Amino acid sequence: MKIAATADIHTRVGDAKRLHALVQEAVRDADLLAIGGDLTDLGRPEQVEVLLKVLGMCSIPILATLGNHDYESGHAAELSRLIGESNVHLLDHSSIVIDDVGFSGVKGFCGGFDENLANSFGEELFKAWVTEGILEAEALKDELQRLETEHRVAVLHYAPIRATVEGEPPEIHAFLGTSHLARALDEGGATVAFHGHAHHGSFKGNTSGGVPVFNVSLPVLKHEGFRQPYYIVEV
Ligand SMILES: [Fe+2]
Ligand SMILES: [Fe+2]
Repeated sequence: MKIAATADIHTRVGDAKRLHALVQEAVRDADLLAIGGDLTDLGRPEQVEVLLKVLGMCSIPILATLGNHDYESGHAAELSRLIGESNVHLLDHSSIVIDDVGFSGVKGFCGGFDENLANSFGEELFKAWVTEGILEAEALKDELQRLETEHRVAVLHYAPIRATVEGEPPEIHAFLGTSHLARALDEGGATVAFHGHAHHGSFKGNTSGGVPVFNVSLPVLKHEGFRQPYYIVEV
């Protein structure tokens, strides 16, 4: 299976032409399109409607997670409902098997990496911030472990490893992802993982357990010199 993986589409009203090109090329090159969040620029229902109308013409399966931008206007539930009525399969603490390949997805959250991973300590607000990342990672691990397929593909918005946020200012690394997600990929037996969110991060890295991780954020793909607005991985 050829997976066209992308992220950070940031749809605005008026973007239909750009999105048509993405769909046409993905249908030509791949068997499935996976979108790692920030589907919309500000999480407005009219923005996701523009995206879903174009994706409705896509003849290959489409999987997507939400990103933080999809929460910005307080309409994430409405966006999820609209996606649920479309041909796009939303991965939100959930999995799907397509042609014997398993896919699990969560938005993920932040928290930092490796020796700079935040501890749950001190104020309740800070603990809640740390806990959110842990809960997202636990959900990812559970979903991956439930899959009985040979290949288990993870679709995320936030980064699971530091390597693919390198290029962003170190001061904001903790807001771009969390190592808890990497642990979930390793313990869940993931074959490969895609994410976005770190627009100025790096394209490729690995978890300590050896799971390949690709930052398929559109600006990263462009910076890498890819002609198409997605990266193809074959599993
Ligand atoms: Fe983004
Ligand atoms: Fe984001």
